[in-house]
Amino acid sequence: MSGRVMVLGSLNVDLVTRVERHPRPGETVRGEDLQRLAGGKGANQAVAAAAAGADVAMVGCVGDDAGGTAYRARLERLGLDVTGLRVAQDVPSGHALVHVADDGENTIVVVPGANDALDEREVAAVDALGPGDVLLLQLEVPFRVVCVAARRAASRGARVVVNLAPYAALPPDVLALADPVVVNEPEMQALAESGAQPRSLLVTFGANGASWDGDTEPAVAVPEDEVADTTGAGDAFCGALAAALAAGRDRSESLAAALAAGADAVRRTGAQADPYL
Ligand code: RIB
Repeated sequence: MSGRVMVLGSLNVDLVTRVERHPRPGETVRGEDLQRLAGGKGANQAVAAAAAGADVAMVGCVGDDAGGTAYRARLERLGLDVTGLRVAQDVPSGHALVHVADDGENTIVVVPGANDALDEREVAAVDALGPGDVLLLQLEVPFRVVCVAARRAASRGARVVVNLAPYAALPPDVLALADPVVVNEPEMQALAESGAQPRSLLVTFGANGASWDGDTEPAVAVPEDEVADTTGAGDAFCGALAAALAAGRDRSESLAAALAAGADAVRRTGAQADPYL
């Protein structure tokens, strides 16, 4: 029987515009089109895990505004369990300002809003997990909450997967219980410089595939002219990975499923499939 995936993390309203190229400091460039899309690394991963067939619970906070209301309704519509999704009072929902250039590469500024309101109420949701379940974490919510949730889930026998994005140094015991810690190349570099040594490390190399404790799987090739937007590709990877692990698939199968989801994600606009809020 498949386990459950719980994602504890961020939800953002992504304000996305396309630019010919990214502005340099002090420069103004023209954007084409402005879209309001579902984003946030946590919710992106949760939606990707659900798309991969997992039974998914999203734990986090939105604000008491139109964006938060629309986001909650969207996740319910997609079949996610939102019992652990709190509406924080008098706080705006998290937002991200996303510029996508013609080559599909993005720059993102995150304004956390309600994501910073996560506290022990959200951690309590983790008590529903047990052996066979997966808790998937990233770092766009308070680190203290991430660390407590990771320890509590592990103590209940659940598998903990930590995506160190955006990069921050976590306590060694949290890195040691994650199986795996997922990083991209810049995050791997920062992790190496910190001297920390996770028990299990999965590194993504974009078009060059990924490597899990040295076992490498090639990427699913996407022709350059089919790359629409790389926003959320890493999140799609993590969500699909968690879904495969919760379904009891082995490392190589899980890695292959994650790479396929990452490749699909770069072909579409936005951080989630059909992302309009
Ligand atoms: O990883 C992509 C995500 O990062 C975007 O959806 C944005 O909200 C930021 O959290």
